[in-house]
Amino acid sequence: MNILKPTQENILKAGEVLKKGGLVAFPTETVYGLGANVFDAKAVTKIFQAKKRPSFDPLITHIADKEFIYEIAYAKNERVKKVMDELWPGPLTIIVEKKDNIPDIVTSGLSTMAVRMPANDIALKLIQNSTHAIAAPSANPFGYLSPTMAEHVYEQLGKEIDFIIDGGLCKLGVESTVLDLTKEIPIVLRPGGMEIEKIEKVLGKIDIYDRTTCAPTAPGQLPNHYSPGKPLYILENIEELKEKKGRIGILSFNEDKSKFQSKVVEVMSSKGDLLEAASRLFYCLHNLDKADIDEIYVQGVPKKGLGIAIMDRLYKASKK
Ligand code: TXA
Ligand code: MG
Repeated sequence: MNILKPTQENILKAGEVLKKGGLVAFPTETVYGLGANVFDAKAVTKIFQAKKRPSFDPLITHIADKEFIYEIAYAKNERVKKVMDELWPGPLTIIVEKKDNIPDIVTSGLSTMAVRMPANDIALKLIQNSTHAIAAPSANPFGYLSPTMAEHVYEQLGKEIDFIIDGGLCKLGVESTVLDLTKEIPIVLRPGGMEIEKIEKVLGKIDIYDRTTCAPTAPGQLPNHYSPGKPLYILENIEELKEKKGRIGILSFNEDKSKFQSKVVEVMSSKGDLLEAASRLFYCLHNLDKADIDEIYVQGVPKKGLGIAIMDRLYKASKK
């Protein structure tokens, strides 16, 4: 396995590997993806094996040209067009009806599929120079923290992959918002990098899947996703940790490190900026998971804008 710099030559090389049925991890604006040719069921099977991902958890297909959606999905309608025109490329995945050229393994047998166009030039070039549609889940073992750096992918899945393209730290740091457009009223199945407010500006009022009242329909909705190896607790008030004894680590939203002398502390955004906090969330959690501590305590963030996606990941990380 090699970590490659994102040169034109390397991207072409990685594109060839994808065409031949290999696995390539690549950066997107959200998190690193573990890619395979979506039209090659055998290659896609390797993704499930590498991640130890249950086969009932469908993958997202990544495209680089909006029009390509019509090659793989029955999606010719105004609503899809509007969403693609106004919100793509970006951290928004849409659910549409799939065509028969998409193997069942990609969608876990569902008649619908997830599609997105990432806002990352390396990802777009790689997709264009391979098979124009790449299936890619986040490049982490199933259920574990998502990778926001090439090193995270290398540490967790290095042995399973042909290449990792290094695009540095992901700009956004939380996965895409998943929006089901097959329903009469669009519904957000997973909060993520695209804020609900932005989607509602384009589509008007939409529904939001509520885990307390609905059964999960997409495995991203399982409560114990995105987990570190260590127990994680979300606190209303992290002031109380100042006195707490023991080998604990703290994930602070904006509280200063110096308040918690001699404890292992990661601060998501000292300015209290939600965009910065989202981009550092998994990075900080990876560091805490590797640190010499037994438990992780987290200061919650305001539940608005990107704070909704951050709290969703933290809530899931706190479930065992
Ligand atoms: O930002 C992202 O979305 C990243 C990057 C790599 O693009 N990818 C990602 O993939 O987070 P993954 O596999 O970790 O999450 C895919 C989500 C899951 O929650 C899955 O259940 C949902 O998309 N999904 C896929 N196909 C679906 C379908 N047909 N209906 C409903 N949900 C679906
Ligand atoms: Mg994932």
